[in-house]
Amino acid sequence: MTKDFTLYLPDEAATLEAGARLAQMLTPGLTIYLHGDLGAGKTTFVRGLLHGLGHLGKVKSPTYTLVEPYVISRFNIYHFDLYRFMGEDEWEAAGFRDYFNAQSICLVEWPEKAGILLPVADIDVQLAPEDAGRRLKASANTAAGAQCLKGFGG
Ligand SMILES: Nc1ncnc2c1ncn2[C@@H]1O[C@H](COP(=O)(O)OP(=O)(O)OP(=O)(O)O)[C@@H](O)[C@H]1O
Ligand SMILES: [Mg+2]
Repeated sequence: MTKDFTLYLPDEAATLEAGARLAQMLTPGLTIYLHGDLGAGKTTFVRGLLHGLGHLGKVKSPTYTLVEPYVISRFNIYHFDLYRFMGEDEWEAAGFRDYFNAQSICLVEWPEKAGILLPVADIDVQLAPEDAGRRLKASANTAAGAQCLKGFGG
C-alpha cells in the first residue's frame, strides 16, 4: 500500500512549514522514517513538525543521545537519530523497542543504521537536495500511514 507524494521545498522555511503541516495529520502509533544524506533537512522537518504541534522549546538533534523525547498535548513523540547507533546490544540496553507502541509517534533519522531492529515504517519521508532547495518525497506503507498522507498531500 503506497501513496506517493512529492513536494518541492525552496528554502528552510518551506521544510519547517511542511513538517508543521504533517503534524496536523498525525495519529498515535505512527512510525515515520526520515531518509536523506547528512544535511538533507531531516531535523529541520522534525523541528517544524514539533513546533506545529505547539512545542515552544528547542528541538536539538539527538545525534549523541540517539533519541529525544517530547510530550506535547496528547502525544508522546520520540525523535531518533540513529547515525551513531552501534547495534543490537545498544538497542536492548536502551530499551528502544518500548518506544514504539500504539500511544507513541516515532520519527527516525538514519533508520538504515538499525536495520531489521526497527518496526516497519507507516510513512517514509525522503529529503534530497534539488536546485537551491530540497525535494521531499513521502510514501505510505500502511493504512494508517496512507490516511495521514492523504491529509498532508491534499
Ligand atoms: N528546503 C530547504 N532548502 C534549503 N536549505 C534547507 C532546506 N531545508 C533545510 N535546509 C537547511 O539544511 C541544513 C541541514 O538541515 P538538517 O540539520 O535538518 O539536516 P539533517 O538531514 O537532519 O542532517 P543530519 O543527517 O546530519 O542529521 C540546515 O542548515 C537547514 O537550514
Ligand atoms: Mg538531523
